[in-house]
Amino acid sequence: MCGIVGYIGNKKASPILINGLTRLEYRGYDSAGIATIEKNGIVVLKNKGRVSELEKILDGESINGTIGIAHTRWATHGKPSTENSHPHIDNKKNFAVVHNGIIENYHELKDFLLKNGYTFYSQTDTEIIPNLIDYYYSKDVLNDDKKVLRAIASACAELKGSFALEILSTYLPDKMIVVRKDSPLVIGRTNSENYISSDIPAILSYTKDFYLLNDYEYGILSKGSAEFFDQNLKPIKKDFVNIDWNASAAEKEGFDDFMLKEIYEQPKSIRETIGSRLSSDGSCNIEDLNLNKEYLQSLNKIYIVACGTAMHAGLAGKTMIEKICNIPTEVDIASEFRYRDPIIDEKTLVIFISQSGETADTIAALKLSKSKGAKTLAISNVIGSSITREADYTVYTHAGPEIAVASTKAYTSQVILMAILAIYFANTLQINSDLVKNLTKDILNLPLQIEDALKNVDAIRNFAKRVYNEKDIFFLGRGIDYNVALEGSLKLKEISYIHSEAYAAGELKHGPIALIENDVTVIAIMTDPILLEKTISNVQEVITRGAKTLVITNQNLGDHDFDNMITLPNTNSLISPVLSVIPLQLFAYYISKQKGLDVDKPRNLAKSVTVE
Ligand code: F6R
Repeated sequence: MCGIVGYIGNKKASPILINGLTRLEYRGYDSAGIATIEKNGIVVLKNKGRVSELEKILDGESINGTIGIAHTRWATHGKPSTENSHPHIDNKKNFAVVHNGIIENYHELKDFLLKNGYTFYSQTDTEIIPNLIDYYYSKDVLNDDKKVLRAIASACAELKGSFALEILSTYLPDKMIVVRKDSPLVIGRTNSENYISSDIPAILSYTKDFYLLNDYEYGILSKGSAEFFDQNLKPIKKDFVNIDWNASAAEKEGFDDFMLKEIYEQPKSIRETIGSRLSSDGSCNIEDLNLNKEYLQSLNKIYIVACGTAMHAGLAGKTMIEKICNIPTEVDIASEFRYRDPIIDEKTLVIFISQSGETADTIAALKLSKSKGAKTLAISNVIGSSITREADYTVYTHAGPEIAVASTKAYTSQVILMAILAIYFANTLQINSDLVKNLTKDILNLPLQIEDALKNVDAIRNFAKRVYNEKDIFFLGRGIDYNVALEGSLKLKEISYIHSEAYAAGELKHGPIALIENDVTVIAIMTDPILLEKTISNVQEVITRGAKTLVITNQNLGDHDFDNMITLPNTNSLISPVLSVIPLQLFAYYISKQKGLDVDKPRNLAKSVTVE
């Protein structure tokens, strides 16, 4: 999705902007641009294509301004082209704007502006914004120092949809104005500068102190200061938060790709997720969460709502909560949940899982749940992200910045956090079972077991080399292993572009087995001892029809005729996804490498899906 960067300080802005854009490249984009305030007014440079190409264009220009805004665009309205790239500027060239989000009523606003004499050079929704600001600016008869802010606020009041905006104006040549609604934007500060970005890792090497804006809050940024205003333009006091992420965590540190680095970081990220929340005596303490026994007993249902990989973590969470706490739990895809009028009330707890905390559908589902009276709990990896500011409670995964588009360490941290949450619920409900005690021990053992699981890398790489040219690859599993099959299949398709499906193994005979023919690849996950025999029979059925198989297990399977087998350390089947997903992550990674693809930035995908 679109990425935003900004700088205001004493240094030349353009190298800082390019550096920030490069760090946001992982979000996915098709064009890039910057605007700075120079002696003669606002200068805009933009092009279709990579940030490196923009950098070459910049080399030939004398751009020395110390205030600038920049953008990587992921086309929504209008094809990828130089005209459609941001920044966009108004007809009189007094306002330059970069925008992340979608303006839903832009047709209406464009018609209005056309009737008032404005012209347009692009097909974007964004181009209306600087012109609408100009419209309100020219209508305002007062000439005080808030005139630009008033014009921006009047324009924003007209916008329907989502937006994070950085605005430069020739009327305020030593300031920048920022505002957001349902789209991410953070402001990093030092004593003499402000850095603006769509996400924290892009500017983490400059500062760890961040201001976080709520919807419709305006920031007027200068070199050494930042003033904030609410929707009615009343001044508000805002404290900055210190983000304790290590800047080097957002670098590759010798790995070829962020995805590989993040796969190998999992022993550490799981340790961080567990933190001091669990003790070997079975006690469990989750900071800032104070749900009491009466409330948990009153629940008629828990919903877990998320998208993509985060939803797969939710599926594991459902099994844990139902098995350990006996509370009916449903999992839903946020984009479905928000439009299907779900039956929820004050006796429903809705848990939202989102690595980025900025996923538009998940945020909308959260707002809907609140409006129906449910309590909401966000599980996120990004401190201060939108979802955490909307939810009644937030629990952080603490997995550290995840840069690769394909989620790996965030998924395993989400699964473990769901297990910790289930234990917390059980303890609060005074359910004193051996399951809880044993599970606690198994969770604490996981980091070392992940290190062992990673040792299968050579076997996985060799298997990937054999099958990377396949057209279709199928994944099978039952119960919690089916959830992992879904995740393995998603990982494969997103970074290898191989068609892949995951099936509940018991469903094979109800249709999918028709797809199995000679030499097709089937990967089966079997960690649940209770379901082992059943899944083995299903795998035999595909072998009989000529499939080549890779079995991933933590059980002793005795004699078998699978082509390949990866044996993982044994653990409680409830948390086995954390181990069994590791060979699947490595498999997707090495297939993508073998095909020579860009692992970290797969086509058409974005890290943070901030529009629906
Ligand atoms: C897949 C992947 C996506 C995300 C999904 C939700 O590897 O990363 O499926 O899981 O877009 O994103 P978050 O967790 O940021 O809400």
